[in-house]
Order: sequence, then structure tokens, then C-alpha cells
Amino acid sequence: MSRIAVIGSCNVDLTVEADRRPGAGETVMGKRLIISPGGKGANQAVAAARLGADVWMVGCVGDDANGRMMLETLEREGIHTEYVKVLSGVTTGTAHITLAEGDNSIIVVKGANDCVDEACIDSAWETIRSCDMILLQHEIPLATNGYVIRRAAEEGLKVLLNPAPFEEVPADILEKAAYVTPNEHEVALMFPGMSREEILSAPACTVLMTIGKDGVAFGGENGPETVPGFQVPVVDTTGAGDTFNGAFAEAAGEGMPLRDAVRFANAAAALSIGKIGAQGGMPRRGEVEELLKCRK
Ligand code: RIB
Repeated sequence: MSRIAVIGSCNVDLTVEADRRPGAGETVMGKRLIISPGGKGANQAVAAARLGADVWMVGCVGDDANGRMMLETLEREGIHTEYVKVLSGVTTGTAHITLAEGDNSIIVVKGANDCVDEACIDSAWETIRSCDMILLQHEIPLATNGYVIRRAAEEGLKVLLNPAPFEEVPADILEKAAYVTPNEHEVALMFPGMSREEILSAPACTVLMTIGKDGVAFGGENGPETVPGFQVPVVDTTGAGDTFNGAFAEAAGEGMPLRDAVRFANAAAALSIGKIGAQGGMPRRGEVEELLKCRK
């Protein structure tokens, strides 16, 4: 079992299913509204916890019904919430998701997530520093992530940075992370002008590039290699990347070799897309092990 600190966002996801997206100035009818817990931080925390990790969430919610829903969800999953601040005068983060034409599009209103600052980190630091892995994403202020990565590097702690949604990260911060997990779109923005080979062979940190159903590419011992994904029926891909990150953190935190940890995380991500909602399909450990066994 790994000890994992997730420093990141808590959003309530408002998902509308529709046959197609409206164009500018157009109204279309949705089929149904689904209100569910989400946020890249909370999703990664839930993914890791379901797979057996002992997880601490560090973040902020508003003093509102959505904030209470997020805290209840995290607690139900066995995640430690003493470092999730409840703030008045600010709303809990929300994500406005359209599910149409086989894919999602998302607008995030950061709300309380924008208040995750250095003071939040300082108050949780004794716990954070005791963890095997620290998970970060880009739905809290970039400056806070920089503060965590610098502090972690000073103490030799492992950080996994999931640079989603894309924001530019200074090179001297990026190189201090143990793992960086961009998707293909983020990789192109993060490393402009560099070939895939150059990016994946970067000596400073391990870049794990997620390529949807094709799996994950990374720099292996003999150059770039790809661990293929598991082909499964798709219901909703929202949160698949988060499941990958949470599962990889648990596996790598336990000391699993890199290739095995990527395969384990690929299996978890594949299972997650079989149900609606970011957290709806996130698997338990036994389900991942079953999939790994039957698809050698
Ligand atoms: O990665 C999926 C998540 O992104 C959703 O749960 C939504 O909250 C957005 O933050």
C-alpha cells in the first residue's frame, strides 16, 4: 500500500448528454443531466484509494452544498480530508461537461480551487513529506504547484505532475518532478519543436505520454517504448486520465517496475471508461488484477 498526497482540485461535475454540441448562438436539447463528484485532484485521489492506497487530499472547497458533497465523497472512499479547507465567500469548483458525439468537452470554473496556496501546503507538509508520491495537476494555481515541487525536490520526495489542462511550466520546475504525464496535445505545447524521441528520452524526469486507447509511451532502457492500452467498450472517457495517474502513483509508490506500473494503470484507466461519470467506473484492485490476468 502506498501513501499518497494529492494536492489539487475538487469539482462537482455537471454533465449533459446530448446528440451533438451546439454551435455559437445555437440551442440544442440535452438528453439528461448528471451531477457527480469530480475534479482532477479528487478523481486521482479516489482512483488511488480504490486501488488500495492510503490517500490524503489537500485542497479547498466552498462552504456550500457542492463542497459538502465533495467532502462526503472523499470520506466515503476512505480518503483523509483534514487538509481540505472549507472556505466561505467562494463557491466550490464546478466542471460543465458536454458528452456528445463520442467525446467530452469541459469548461471548469475553479472557484475555491484557486485558493489552494502556500499556507495550505505548509499546514499539511508534515503529512505530505511522509508520502511515497505527491500528485499535482493544473486546476490549482501554478505558483502553488511550483512551491510544492521545489520543496519536494529539496527533501528528495517524488512528485507526479499531470499537466492538465495545459499551462506553461518553467523548465527548472518541470525537471524537478519525478514523473510528468501529458497527453499528446499537452506534450506538443509543453515541448514545442522537440521530437517524440527527444521528449521521451529527457534525462531529468520521466515523461509518460498518454495516447488514449493506444496506451502510454515513455523512455525505456532501449529508447522510447509504448505499453498498449486495453480495448474496451466506451461509455464515458471523463476521468480516464485521472484514473491512470492515480493508479500509476499507487503502483509506482509501491515500488512496481515502470513498465508494470504503466500496464497496471492502463488497465485501471480502461475499466474506468465503462461507466458514466469521472469516478463512476474507477475500479477496485481485484478488477484490475483480473483484467491483467485475462489479457496477458
Ligand atoms: O479529468 C476529468 C475532470 O476534469 C472532471 O472530473 C472535471 O471536474 C474536470 O476537472
